[in-house]
Amino acid sequence: MKTKLLPLIISCALVGSSAHAQSLPNQSSAPISVAETIWQDDSKVMDAFISDLMAKMTLKEKIGQLDLQAGNGVLTGSYRNKDYVKQIKAGHVGAVFNTLGANRTRALQKIAVEETRLGIPLIFGYDVIHGHRTIFPISLGEAASWDLQAIQKSARVSAEEASAEGLHWTFAPMVDVSRDPRWGRISEGAGEDVYLGTQVALARVKGFQGDDLSKTDTIMATAKHYAVYGAAEGGRDYNSTDVSERTLRSIHLPPFKALVDAGVATFMTAFNDLNGVPATANKYLLDEILRKEWGFEGFVVTDYTAVEELVKHGFAKDSKHAAELAFNAGADMDMVGQNYFKHLEASVTENKVNIATIDKSVRRILEMKYRLGLFEDPYRYSDLSREKKVVLSQENLLAAQDVARKSMVLLKNDKQTLPLSHTLNSIALIGPLANSKADIIGSWAGAGDRKTQPVTVLEGLKAKLGKDVKINFAKGASYNYQSNSNKGFGAAMVAAKKSEVIVVVMGESQKMTGEASSRTSLTLPGNQLALLKELKKLNKPIVLVLMNGRPLSLNWANDNVDAILETWFSGTMGGHAIADVLLGDYNPSGKLPVSFPRNVGQIPVYHSMKSTGRPFNPSIPLKKQNYTSRYENLENTPLYAFGHGLSYSSFDYGEIKLSSDTMTMGGSIEASVKVTNTGQYDGEEVVQLYIQDLVGSATRPVKELKGFDKSMFKKGESKVITFTITEQDLAFYRQDMSFGAEAGEFKLFIGTASDNTQSKSFSLVEK
Ligand code: BGC
Repeated sequence: MKTKLLPLIISCALVGSSAHAQSLPNQSSAPISVAETIWQDDSKVMDAFISDLMAKMTLKEKIGQLDLQAGNGVLTGSYRNKDYVKQIKAGHVGAVFNTLGANRTRALQKIAVEETRLGIPLIFGYDVIHGHRTIFPISLGEAASWDLQAIQKSARVSAEEASAEGLHWTFAPMVDVSRDPRWGRISEGAGEDVYLGTQVALARVKGFQGDDLSKTDTIMATAKHYAVYGAAEGGRDYNSTDVSERTLRSIHLPPFKALVDAGVATFMTAFNDLNGVPATANKYLLDEILRKEWGFEGFVVTDYTAVEELVKHGFAKDSKHAAELAFNAGADMDMVGQNYFKHLEASVTENKVNIATIDKSVRRILEMKYRLGLFEDPYRYSDLSREKKVVLSQENLLAAQDVARKSMVLLKNDKQTLPLSHTLNSIALIGPLANSKADIIGSWAGAGDRKTQPVTVLEGLKAKLGKDVKINFAKGASYNYQSNSNKGFGAAMVAAKKSEVIVVVMGESQKMTGEASSRTSLTLPGNQLALLKELKKLNKPIVLVLMNGRPLSLNWANDNVDAILETWFSGTMGGHAIADVLLGDYNPSGKLPVSFPRNVGQIPVYHSMKSTGRPFNPSIPLKKQNYTSRYENLENTPLYAFGHGLSYSSFDYGEIKLSSDTMTMGGSIEASVKVTNTGQYDGEEVVQLYIQDLVGSATRPVKELKGFDKSMFKKGESKVITFTITEQDLAFYRQDMSFGAEAGEFKLFIGTASDNTQSKSFSLVEK
């Protein structure tokens, strides 16, 4: 097997906290390089070992390696084979997921290794999505930190905990770009943007896989769900997708491609059909693009029961046909449904599946087992003493608290309502989410405890404030869709009347987000808004602390409350992190990774939209511009734009300076801006770079994120932030679908949010 050489370029502009003269890597040319050694140690020794082993395997044993079974842990779909242990004993299972713990994984591994004919070890997988036992903020929240080191750290801690429990593989990161907040799984990704999403995906894979997959504290990552799952029609989960080749390649594929270049070990197919062909049996995606064009050498697993779902898609006539279609398209491993196991032997006999194709898939899976070191010592990950030491360690909990603080976005802060004054004697803490452990932990809290460990806002505030400040707590309202009684309002009003400031914790239940949790409305569910309106009548300062897994439409709150802090679902240490931010022990620095629409009718609304032939101009009165691309009853802009996020400090941006207003093809220019912390607090700022190509052979977005820099600024400090722009940053899929830049005029924007920038022009000229 050939050695895959990976670029050893480490992305620096986006992770650094040193502010000066950083260069801007292009997402496609300079990915963070991960796990080089996974691919570089694939010596002849491994090849010979695997060839030797495969020579001894029966066809049934080979097909068994393509089978992924769900163990006794959590159920993440509706089907499970209860006889999976028997099947392991027969030597007919390649991998198991939803089973964890050093003891349990060791026991199952023992069956595979000691009770089967060939003793081939199992791979153990799990959905380690936003933490393993120590739970970090949901993925969308982490993306809001724009802090790639923090995101990498979260994945690293998760891998350390998971691997100690015998796990070798996580089904993360989800890198589906999504511009539809109705879709519940927007919470699992990095939001609307291709560039940010790609950088976040790379940081996560780097954290999970480290730089050596054979180390016992690293785990294989999965690039999922391949592909276009985030564009499910109407935001309804599992729904069909239909996108052009240009949209596919410009928006949906770049994060996946970057992960292949960076050495991700596995891919997972998506549930949806794409342009009429289900992703799980999509030869174009799996074979043409992933294998042939990108050279992916890891293995592809289907999503949960996605093979037999080809029948319900109306694409396969029965489960045997489905197995043949998925396998021949390029899906190596079948998750849960056992369709490969039940049918592929017959398909080989009938010449519907080629034995050489089976051999290739088996080899890919065995290679991963080899690279994980499982043939040397199949029990090396299941380590009870390490499990006891690392799981939920103090260090991990502190890391989770830090990432949680970094992920919070201050959406509004009138009259510096936040941070709360240290001279306060009383706080009303109100809302269904203020003391809910089950919610703050988030929508895919893996193996995390949901009942006792999560720190709520009430607990976090009490721990910080002690007896000095009286906290008057009342739940007051409910987020349940059906709630319309105002029974709890009285207690909430009493608590509020007794207090100097009202902190309201509202949003969604964690169950309203994630898989199979699409919503047709983005308002605060239940009777929460009604209670907020009652509280407003008291004429006291109101701080709204939000917990939610998607953009919400918050028009009334934006117009009526004093401060709004978006905290997402912030994990095990969420309550401490929120208390840190509310009291000013941490100055918020998050920025939205996705636009917050004014209402659901605006969807999709995102910063990189096209101009159209009749663009609406917000500076001209509405009446004077009929027949423009706008709504009759609402403006086009979102309530909170992509990249928006305030700080307790303020940042002044000087004028943009370009090293030249002309870039030659193949060359580069630098754009610099002096940023000064003009406020009263030390704080971090995310300086954002956007570019617009004014004329293209295919229409171009009005603005596209092309770089960012998150730096700490001491009170009064100034730094010059510099971005290097290369031809690669200007490249796109041209009219003929070739990828490259076109000479012409460009606009470059630098600012604190996508809707708060200044600009300079430059041109790109032929050599
Ligand atoms: C989800 C995947 C997940 C799998 C295994 C599916 O329902 O779509 O994202 O990894 O279950 O739990």
